[in-house]
Amino acid sequence: MTIHIGAEPGQIAETVLMPGDPYRARWAAETFLEGAQLVNEVRGMLGFTGTWRGHRVTIQGSGMGMPSLSIYANELIRDYGAKTLIRIGSCGAMQKAVGVRDIVLAMTSSTISTPSRGIFRELNFAPAADFGLLSAAHGAARARGLPVHVGGIYSSDVFYDERPDLNEQMTRHGVLAVEMEAAELYILAARYGVRALAVLTVSDHLLTHESLPSSEREKSFGDMVEIALEAAFS
Ligand code: HPA
Repeated sequence: MTIHIGAEPGQIAETVLMPGDPYRARWAAETFLEGAQLVNEVRGMLGFTGTWRGHRVTIQGSGMGMPSLSIYANELIRDYGAKTLIRIGSCGAMQKAVGVRDIVLAMTSSTISTPSRGIFRELNFAPAADFGLLSAAHGAARARGLPVHVGGIYSSDVFYDERPDLNEQMTRHGVLAVEMEAAELYILAARYGVRALAVLTVSDHLLTHESLPSSEREKSFGDMVEIALEAAFS
């Protein structure tokens, strides 16, 4: 047990999928894993462990934003020995060529700040995905015929952003989409020598103001879970 995860030692798999929403963790575990067991419910941040095609997998909610994800990812890696961590979540598109419901694989992520900011001082560390996971996820998305984009994203600290000019600069510099967790996940993976990737679905569009109808959210989320699982064990 850790401060934020109630699982016993050994109850967390080396491969962990991390949706922001704990109810999504439950849905994914019930839908895609065999023998899924609840291993964490501290603060309602549900986590489940089961198997997928014979491989042990944990699906643990991360909460929203980098401070929350950082707590869970730190404890999963340092205390439970997680070796592969894949965020599955939503993002807002920042390019015209990226459509609502498309998949975005974050090769790298720009930020203003992360919970790790202090250790880098004046240096701008470049958080990067694990190339093997990225490449395998790209192959899995293409094999399913899903529209998939690979490139830089922006991990923001705010959802209700008072700095639209900053978003404009991100768009101008080719950033594909905005979300709120990936950069810190990549930094922690680098620090501890484990693998990480963020697989994202475009849920809303910052330029066109379109959004993914709620009726389609489950299907899109399911696609991400399958891409993440195939990438983890390819
Ligand atoms: N901003 C930040 N995070 C997000 C967004 C957004 O527009 N959409 C989905 N996650």
